[in-house]
Amino acid sequence: MSAPNSSFDPKQVSALGEDAVNEMVAAALVDIAGAADLAALKEVRLAHAGDRSPLALANREIGALPPAAKVEVGKRVGEARARIKEALTSREEVLQRQRDEEVLVAEAVDVTVPTTRRSLGGRHPLTTLMEAMADVFIAMGYSVAEGPELEAEWVNFDALNVPADHPARTMQDTFYVTSQDSGAVLRTQTSPIQIRAMLSRELPIHVVAPGRVYRTDELDATHTPVFHQIEGLAVDEGLTMADLKGTLDHLAEQMFGAGIVTRLRPSYFPFTEPSAEVDLECFVCRGESVGNPERPCRTCGSEGWIEWGGCGMVNPRVLRSVGIDADVYSGFAFGMGIERTLMFRNGVTDMHDMVEGDVRFTRAFGVEA
Ligand code: DAH
Repeated sequence: MSAPNSSFDPKQVSALGEDAVNEMVAAALVDIAGAADLAALKEVRLAHAGDRSPLALANREIGALPPAAKVEVGKRVGEARARIKEALTSREEVLQRQRDEEVLVAEAVDVTVPTTRRSLGGRHPLTTLMEAMADVFIAMGYSVAEGPELEAEWVNFDALNVPADHPARTMQDTFYVTSQDSGAVLRTQTSPIQIRAMLSRELPIHVVAPGRVYRTDELDATHTPVFHQIEGLAVDEGLTMADLKGTLDHLAEQMFGAGIVTRLRPSYFPFTEPSAEVDLECFVCRGESVGNPERPCRTCGSEGWIEWGGCGMVNPRVLRSVGIDADVYSGFAFGMGIERTLMFRNGVTDMHDMVEGDVRFTRAFGVEA
């Protein structure tokens, strides 16, 4: 029997001996193989490869060994730790795959299962645009006025000073309901609501009237036989064209952004005198595309202005036709197409999209309130 090596602590020798290390490895491998899931494996990793695991503790003792033993024991412990690490990694891969498969099964969605959920459509952008425009006027104290879509010819035309021989009255533009002498038409404009408002309301009058109108146009990319307009009418003492211009500029700013103004171009409508076309300053290029071929603007066609609608001072003949004293009162009126506004405001290029009722078009505008 050889004498004990005085610098070899028997305690350490037994912890670092081959058998002891093999036992630690064997115990670790059994636990690793037995770990049923990732949480259990985490515990096993802590127990056999953590800072306080038997092997880690044994490893700490290597420093105290004599140099010759250090190499041999260091190699043994190093290999043992590597085996445990390897076993942990491969078990983790297996358990992870198992977990992923379970999740796939547990969270699988059978898209063929019948559902009771109903898909919600979106409100039509024409509706939300009409409401947004009307809201601008409501904020200024206007009220919303309405009229029937099946209208008396007298209200749609005569009272608005549209002469009997005006081309708009012929079958070309107007839907007559039974015959051309029936006296009933599908309103061709929202302007008859002006007449109804003046006949039924106390002065002064401030009304806005969004609504559906009809003309005998074929449906194509820029026309539809059923479309929408918004009409505005103010009748009071002392109203001038400056009030009209200020009102339109305010609408333009509210709808298209701060600083956007309108321009009035002389025109003719039987129910206004003087009359003007309302142009909107291009809210995309703000006129910078004009004469600038390097920066063309698709919204205004590099014109700087977009045709928006018609307007003017209410013709005194119209005021008189509804019994308003034209020497005391004056009024201004305007009307614009909603489809047209939606087209340039939202870059809709084909009228078909607005009338086909495809929910994919409607939804693209979001579920606006
Ligand atoms: N009713 C006209 C149209 O459909 C638009 C219009 C022009 C309305 C001038 C007005 C106005 O109130 O003053 O073309």
